[in-house]
Amino acid sequence: MEFVKGDPRLQFISMLQSDTIWNKKHDKFQLKQTVFKTFPENQHLSAAITSNDSLIVKKADFSTGMMSGAILLGFNTNGIEASKAKIKHTSIIVSTLVLLFGILIGLWLARTISIPVLALRDAARKVGEGDLNQKIKRVQKNEIGQLEKAFNKMIDDLEKTTNALNEKNVALSNTNDTLNHTMIELKNTHAQLIQSEKMASLGELTAGIAHEIQNPLNFVNNFSEVSMELIEEVKEERSKKQEERDEILEVELLEDISRNLAKITHHGKRADAIVKGMLQHSRTTSSEKEPTDINGLADEYLRLAYHGLRAKDKSFNATLNTDFDKTIGKVNMVPQDIGRVVLNLITNAFYAVDERKKQGCEPFEPTLTLTTRKKGDTIVISVKDNGNGIPQSILDKIFQPFFTTKPTGQGTGLGLSLAYDIIAAHEGRLSVETKEGEGTEFHIELPV
Ligand SMILES: Nc1ncnc2c1ncn2[C@@H]1O[C@H](COP(=O)(O)OP(=O)(O)OP(=O)(O)O)[C@@H](O)[C@H]1O
Ligand SMILES: [Mg+2]
Repeated sequence: MEFVKGDPRLQFISMLQSDTIWNKKHDKFQLKQTVFKTFPENQHLSAAITSNDSLIVKKADFSTGMMSGAILLGFNTNGIEASKAKIKHTSIIVSTLVLLFGILIGLWLARTISIPVLALRDAARKVGEGDLNQKIKRVQKNEIGQLEKAFNKMIDDLEKTTNALNEKNVALSNTNDTLNHTMIELKNTHAQLIQSEKMASLGELTAGIAHEIQNPLNFVNNFSEVSMELIEEVKEERSKKQEERDEILEVELLEDISRNLAKITHHGKRADAIVKGMLQHSRTTSSEKEPTDINGLADEYLRLAYHGLRAKDKSFNATLNTDFDKTIGKVNMVPQDIGRVVLNLITNAFYAVDERKKQGCEPFEPTLTLTTRKKGDTIVISVKDNGNGIPQSILDKIFQPFFTTKPTGQGTGLGLSLAYDIIAAHEGRLSVETKEGEGTEFHIELPV
């Protein structure tokens, strides 16, 4: 039993003896255990001892021929509690140390990574908002420091680029001013050119108009002369004696005079209309739309253009065909504007056929055909020639202002461009069909 002394954890060892106790009547018995022996011997314990906070009691029954009972082992738990308390303390100290270490690492990380990164983020946001005074002042020596250096360099570069851009903006704005100025000058020049184009076409017309006025004037002169002669005859008749006078002849002569005066008035009015037309053509302000006899207008400008050209160049000759749709009636338009378009198409056509004739390499009959047609809601005026046609290479340029193939000084190149604008202003369409070596046909489409 000495091993109990050798191990402080063992408090006691005890042997219990089981006895059978009969009741008084001796008909029932019960088992009773008593302490047989305990070591150390000074320990006094009861057979019913159980485990408590400071003691663990283990019991093992035994039975032999001599006796039966149980062995009790008592373990002292103080040592275990002490070890538990020690482990608890140690773990608290270790946890605190780990926590402190963690906090230190956290602070260090915050100081070297998070704070600079956040500062970089804020600076980058402000740079994004346009504030370029966002340099990082205390640059570190680690990777974050390299990032900060790169950031500072970026700000420098940005500043330089912004300054350069600002300078370019100033330069651009100056160029813009100059361009605006040039634009205004160009607009003025354009207006002047339009005016000179009008005057040029007026010049083209003048010869034709002179020819046109000459014709009614000849009638007026001839009928006046004839009327004077007739009046002389009437006077002569009247100076005769009453019985010799031929009253029937007198009446006939007076009727002739009257007819002649009507003709003089008619041709006088024709000359008047021609002069009025010329004045209208030279007017600079844009005019009002009015119901216009298209066929009359086309015919008038054809004759004016032809005689105008013939007056300048006696050798010029062309066959003129007209095919007018009589059902057209009057169409709302600015007559002098549409007249200018028709005139330009006709002069272009005459120029083209004349060019072809001057090449002289084939028997050639210059021909111009002027057609009017009513197609549904539109009327079409077509000017067709059998000149050389327009080469495909320049076809898309002919409506551009100042495009001309005429020798310098002979054309402004504004004719078709103005024609295009006028027709567009009438909500119509100007188109061209052409075949090289065969001729060209322009169509003016106008809404009714
Ligand atoms: N009927 C045509 N046949 C062949 N080429 C034509 C014809 N009409 C126009 N062109 C071509 O289109 C060009 C431009 O014509 P546009 O009427 O605009 O100017 P222009 O006749 O040259 O000059 P301007 O009308 O001022 O006298 C002409 O130079 C010519 O090359
Ligand atoms: Mg022209």
